[in-house]
Amino acid sequence: MTRPSTRAVLPRNAVIPVITVDRVDQAVPLADALIAGGLGAIEVTLRTDAGLPALAAMAAAHPTVPIGAGTVVTADQIAAAVDAGAAFLVSPGLTDPLAEAGRAMAVPFLPGVATATEVMRARDHGFTEVKFFPAEIAGGARALTGLAAVFPDMGFCPTGGITADNAPAYLALDAVFAVGGSWMAPKAAVERGDWQAIRDLAAAAARIGEITA
Ligand code: 3PG
Repeated sequence: MTRPSTRAVLPRNAVIPVITVDRVDQAVPLADALIAGGLGAIEVTLRTDAGLPALAAMAAAHPTVPIGAGTVVTADQIAAAVDAGAAFLVSPGLTDPLAEAGRAMAVPFLPGVATATEVMRARDHGFTEVKFFPAEIAGGARALTGLAAVFPDMGFCPTGGITADNAPAYLALDAVFAVGGSWMAPKAAVERGDWQAIRDLAAAAARIGEITA
């Protein structure tokens, strides 16, 4: 079976805000700000209890924008995220149960990798698009250049330590189809409901994707 492609649901050279929300009431104003700033996809992590209902609220409010689930670490979370309306799924790693559940889903699933062996394992499971995580700690754009050179059929979405400053170096690589990060939605700004600040950061992030596309 051909795997559903993350690239097919994301804008070209996507800059994906990776969002962790503590309260569901933050979800829609946060999504509104990110989207108004020009970002065309959002990843909501399932690290908090508010994650899944926040994803559902964002997906209902913005049905044309791909809202994905991040930090997916169990097969149960895959099913729950798809039920909540997730358009794509992202994991920091890959286990056998996740691979099996991810393969069975009609929405794209991005497993996390940091080494050549992990890329090979993801590939063996049929995944040709992966998250490179934690990107900066795992060697940054230079390490990813080395990995991508030996796996010309693989696409990468680096996340972990990505900033407005280092994002362009990743997006300049042919193998990179998107970058993810939390820098455009700082926790303090979300806490105080400073949606204008987040909109401005999102607009700057969106320009990075456009310039490098
Ligand atoms: C994640 O999965 O949490 C992303 O890697 C975000 O990492 P960041 O907070 O370093 O941008």
